[in-house]
Amino acid sequence: MTASSKIADYQSYRGVPSLAGLATLTEAARPGLGIEACVTRLKRFHYAFRRLHEIFTAWITAEPIYEIKTAFSLHAYLCSEHVLALRTRVGEMREPPLGLEVVPDPALELLFDEILAAPTTTERLVGLYEKALPALDAALERHMADTNPLTDAPSVRVCRFARLELADMIDFGVKSIACLVDDEARRGMELWSKLLDDCLAVSGGIDGSMQPLDRAIARRHSATPYRYDPVPRRDERFQDLYNQGVNPEAFLYDPSFDPQSKTLMMLFKRLREIDVPEMMASIIHETKGKPWNYYRDMSRQLWDEARHAMMGEVGFVSLGIDWKAARITHNWSLRLNTECTPIERHAVLYFIEQGLMAKTGKRYEWEVGVQSGNPLMATIQDFDWADEVLHASLGREWYIPEFGDRKQAIDYGDQCWSKVLSNWTTVYDQGLTQHENWWPAIYQQACATWGIAADPHVLAYRETYETQRADLKAVSGSG
Ligand SMILES: [Fe+2]
Ligand SMILES: [Fe+2]
Repeated sequence: MTASSKIADYQSYRGVPSLAGLATLTEAARPGLGIEACVTRLKRFHYAFRRLHEIFTAWITAEPIYEIKTAFSLHAYLCSEHVLALRTRVGEMREPPLGLEVVPDPALELLFDEILAAPTTTERLVGLYEKALPALDAALERHMADTNPLTDAPSVRVCRFARLELADMIDFGVKSIACLVDDEARRGMELWSKLLDDCLAVSGGIDGSMQPLDRAIARRHSATPYRYDPVPRRDERFQDLYNQGVNPEAFLYDPSFDPQSKTLMMLFKRLREIDVPEMMASIIHETKGKPWNYYRDMSRQLWDEARHAMMGEVGFVSLGIDWKAARITHNWSLRLNTECTPIERHAVLYFIEQGLMAKTGKRYEWEVGVQSGNPLMATIQDFDWADEVLHASLGREWYIPEFGDRKQAIDYGDQCWSKVLSNWTTVYDQGLTQHENWWPAIYQQACATWGIAADPHVLAYRETYETQRADLKAVSGSG
């Protein structure tokens, strides 16, 4: 009697699925991979996700296209979660010391170095979504096919979850490439694209399980080592990036204005939060040697802030308002990124976010949202508030311990913010902006949607940031 016929004769209890539904007896009776082979592959997956997290994060600031910037924010976060899951799994497999910081293969290192150093959006999109992510997905698929589904069930679970999200990321990438990468761009990156294929072939795939190709590979974009670009960039829909001509906080906390009009200022504040991922990316990229949980938590917060910006976008669009009429400044992220150290930036972020926990902070914004009679506004502010409570707790976990004392840590944040306080006059004198008052244009569009006549008092609002910082030393800023 052969092994397979013995298995075929085996019956579970009244036909209930065997093996907790993980696999058939036949599948689980194949020996599959041993621990050592599994760990070798998992470490390579871990390396790939870690490098992808690095690349997505590094380019959030300088990527001009808003849709790509926000997607990189999500994809960086997703990668950080998969890194954590893989680290945890490797730690369960008789591994300490884990050796998770070791580069598993120089050809893989070259692959990711090249994508990191790619100078254009189109090359980064192709490198990430046509090369690296599909190769990683294929390697995870092979792991699920090669390993024993019963003995290695915990790794299979990690791979399955990773593949679900990789599929979403690849889908986004493929659709974006179809919109942004034309034939000419393709021709321009032919040799480079071939180099990426060669890196994968020389490494035997992301998992190293295939016969490696013996071919010389030489650096192109990464021949000059990559340097992080801290200057935030925006696409052409974002104009007048130094504008500080409207102070939304002063409006929001002025009892003489109505909740409905205030929702417009809140939507502006949400959309303006795109400057927070631009700034947080610099902290994450420039802060080395922290436990992985730090990078995961910071990436989560970064993604939340990108999400807050998109809530503002959705709110404006749902009211039929062309948000381009507002001035979504990059002044805050630019100054923090170029004038402060990473810990000073984190200090400012924490200082602002703990301020949002006060009665006049996120609770107030939610109350205004509820009072406005716009249910979407209430939902947006409800979740924005919850996210900010999480961020304040992440700050307590990762920022406060740098000082040991909460008061000192907050004072330091206050000082750091004062350092980049107002450049209202400087940017005006340099001709970078006229601080144009964009408020009437946005308010009048909203009035048209609401079918009401503009209230002269609301329409006449013209408070700027000239004399007041966003917390009205005082009210709140980005966060
Ligand atoms: Fe936040
Ligand atoms: Fe936020």
